[in-house]
Amino acid sequence: MDSSSLRRTASPVLLAISTLFLLLSPHVHSASSPPPPPPPSPISLSFPPFSPSNLLCQFDKSLNLSADLICTPSNPPGQIVFSYDNDVISTRYQYKKPVQLWKKGSPYAASFSTQFTLQFHRDAERSVKRVFGGGIAFAVTPTIDAGDSGPESFGLFKIDDASGKAAGGKNPKTVAVEIDTSRDVTYSWDPQIPHVGLDISSVNSVASKFLWNGTAFIDRKIAVFIDYDAQKEVLAVRFQNVSASGKADKAKSTLFLSYAGLSLGKTVNEMSYVGFSSRVPVTTDGVYILYDWSFSTQWVLKKK
Ligand SMILES: *[C@@H]1O[C@H](CO)[C@@H](O)[C@H](O)[C@H]1NC(C)=O
Ligand SMILES: *[C@@H]1O[C@H](CO)[C@@H](O)[C@H](O)[C@H]1NC(C)=O
Ligand SMILES: *[C@@H]1O[C@H](CO)[C@@H](O)[C@H](O)[C@H]1NC(C)=O
Repeated sequence: MDSSSLRRTASPVLLAISTLFLLLSPHVHSASSPPPPPPPSPISLSFPPFSPSNLLCQFDKSLNLSADLICTPSNPPGQIVFSYDNDVISTRYQYKKPVQLWKKGSPYAASFSTQFTLQFHRDAERSVKRVFGGGIAFAVTPTIDAGDSGPESFGLFKIDDASGKAAGGKNPKTVAVEIDTSRDVTYSWDPQIPHVGLDISSVNSVASKFLWNGTAFIDRKIAVFIDYDAQKEVLAVRFQNVSASGKADKAKSTLFLSYAGLSLGKTVNEMSYVGFSSRVPVTTDGVYILYDWSFSTQWVLKKK
């Protein structure tokens, strides 16, 4: 509505009252703008206990399987074990409710910190060289559903195998930190394994780094720390070898990736799902074990 139509529709009495108010109000001409509305509330998640009431295991629904055949509570409980008895399968394991990462029109955006400890545990019967599963990614996604993502993308989204980009030129609004342990040798875009990579709506990573000798990488507890600074628009990934009885300790971790220029606000949905996306192994080859996971946001003023 423009001001002329406002004038036409407003009653003379209302106009007189608002004019009087304008004259009496001492602040109306002041140059200072009102303070911005406060940012949304931050979120803080911490597991274990890994409960199906707040974490969802999702995979190809056409299989009509019970979720606890893929994302299995360990015995004794405490950990979650990812694998499937019959095949390699793309699986999501994410927090049920979407979390807010930015807000339209707000000067604030969410920084986040996430940490998890996992193990790529190969079955003792398997040969040293055999790759199992495909890897696992910490993922920020628009849906909680692996959908028709297919086998080559950790369950993130459907890709064009020759390029690693989202199939059909689609924008999957996904950011992921992949820990990749398998490589399709048909194509040359995927770096040497095992590696960590930052995926921005493509599994052809914008930045990646070789981790270390694959034999030394599997069958041990590894802690991963991912920190996103929404003000600097920098994402950093750190790794730590954890002893069998040890705990994650960021002070003992090593920085592997630091990527500047990631604006989550321009990449993912305001409300996105967080958690894991993986191509999990056949149980007879091995399993992936998740020991713990924490995720928290902190609202900061954005870069102007
Ligand atoms: C899925 O499995 C359940 C339990 O075995 C069965 O009752 C149901 O009919 C199955 N649904 C389909 C679509 O096969
Ligand atoms: C890789 O690690 C394994 C197990 O720690 C070790 O036996 C092997 O010598 C290492 N290989 C290389 C090339 O460093
Ligand atoms: C973990 O241990 C392996 C084998 O000793 C080593 O090559 C690798 O650099 C270590 N990783 C970290 C993050 O310290």
